[in-house]
Amino acid sequence: MNDLLSKIESHTARVGVIGLGYVGLPLALLFEESGFHVLGFDVDASKTEALNRGESYIRHIGADRIAAAFARRARATTDFRHLAECDAIIICVPTPLGRHREPDLKYIRMTADAIVPHLRRGHLIVLESTTYPGTTRQELLPRLESTGLSCGRDFFLAFSPEREDPGNQNFSTKSIPKIVGGIDEASLRAATALYGSVVDRVVIVTSAEIAESSKLLENIFRAVNIALVNELKVVFDRMGIDVWQVIEAAKTKPFGFMAFYPGPGLGGHCIPLDPFYLAWKAAEYGIWARFIELAGEVNTAMPRYVVDRTVEAINADGKSIVGSKILVLGLSYKADIDDDRESPSFELIELLQERGAAVSYCDPYVPVARRGRKHDLGLKSVPCTAEEFATYDAVLVSTAHSQFRDPSLYKNVKLAVDTRNIIPTQGATRVVRA
Ligand SMILES: NC(=O)c1ccc[n+]([C@@H]2O[C@H](COP(=O)([O-])OP(=O)(O)OC[C@H]3O[C@@H](n4cnc5c(N)ncnc54)[C@H](O)[C@@H]3O)[C@@H](O)[C@H]2O)c1
Repeated sequence: MNDLLSKIESHTARVGVIGLGYVGLPLALLFEESGFHVLGFDVDASKTEALNRGESYIRHIGADRIAAAFARRARATTDFRHLAECDAIIICVPTPLGRHREPDLKYIRMTADAIVPHLRRGHLIVLESTTYPGTTRQELLPRLESTGLSCGRDFFLAFSPEREDPGNQNFSTKSIPKIVGGIDEASLRAATALYGSVVDRVVIVTSAEIAESSKLLENIFRAVNIALVNELKVVFDRMGIDVWQVIEAAKTKPFGFMAFYPGPGLGGHCIPLDPFYLAWKAAEYGIWARFIELAGEVNTAMPRYVVDRTVEAINADGKSIVGSKILVLGLSYKADIDDDRESPSFELIELLQERGAAVSYCDPYVPVARRGRKHDLGLKSVPCTAEEFATYDAVLVSTAHSQFRDPSLYKNVKLAVDTRNIIPTQGATRVVRA
């Protein structure tokens, strides 16, 4: 233990990061930029090769930063035998849902199995992937202890949730407080030392389960509040009241209110998925997490609601949705980033296609619609120009990319369905908020 702590203190510890995605890559860079030798592991060779060439595959993480780090003390590999060279190993692999919305821990389990042959005395293992409380203790601990090594004495194990917010200019991996919970006191000490050497503030909690649960609370809080405002959008719309103006007015209250905004549905790797990790685990205890289920129900109904509103709007123009040309604006799930995972735009496009519309999309961040776990659109982005937009029967705003805020883009658009409140209601365009 003392050997590990002194290596961390002197920044001579070698840090391994498993899973070099939206979470693992910025974390690897942070450790490298703080003077640590970093070894990044991924099963995707195209990523490790790109990093070793100094190239970025995540738009908001600049290639300059990657080139500098990988010219200095960072390396990436698909060869997990190099885990033996690391002193600390941080796990940032995906935690998706299965077809029945059950947690899919296969990536965590595979990673644990990959670590086992290389686990040795003095190793610190930290899980960062979002998951239900108990995963670190119930899934990782027994696998790692199957080596005969004992946690707290021979090696150390902790959970520290990632709070990455891609594209957020106000907070970085370094400045966002980092929660750490250990399997035992010694593990907590080791993990606190590791993160304390690179982030501005470490928040110590009394167990790995508290740390796991705190991340879920943060995400459930968002899912429930977004569902609330999505429900209010439907209610106020029926009453002829603009929900966006209601929110602007309510948010002038300087205390006790936090603004959330409606939209076409939830997207991203976290908010649409993580709450169901807890709901699933709660069922094991005979408890139904009703708020979580209800929020899921309201939020997943949104794409269908938006499509229904679009069909009504086209109909009001005296046209049929069958054969109408619709342009969906934005494929990524939030503004000004290139992450399209779980984006509601996919469902909007598919639902419109099912109704017979000819659908195109425009997204300067996603030039080609990649094949995902659930979707395969086979489409490419059309140009982001007023001339292009003018050729459609309707444009449907799904993502509030800054480029889409230019009013001149819509000057010859007859009908705009706007789920993000970014198109001003002026000029010849009929704007329907949905
Ligand atoms: N994206 C976010 O903003 C965010 C924020 C907070 C928490 N999280 C959580 O962090 C975790 C990772 O999310 P992400 O967004 O970085 O995912 P990601 O898909 O961007 O990255 C995961 C990486 O892990 C790699 N990988 C998959 N299986 C692997 C294996 N067995 N061994 C090594 N590498 C493997 C993938 O190739 C990929 O590069 C998830 O649990 C997620 O819920 C994500």
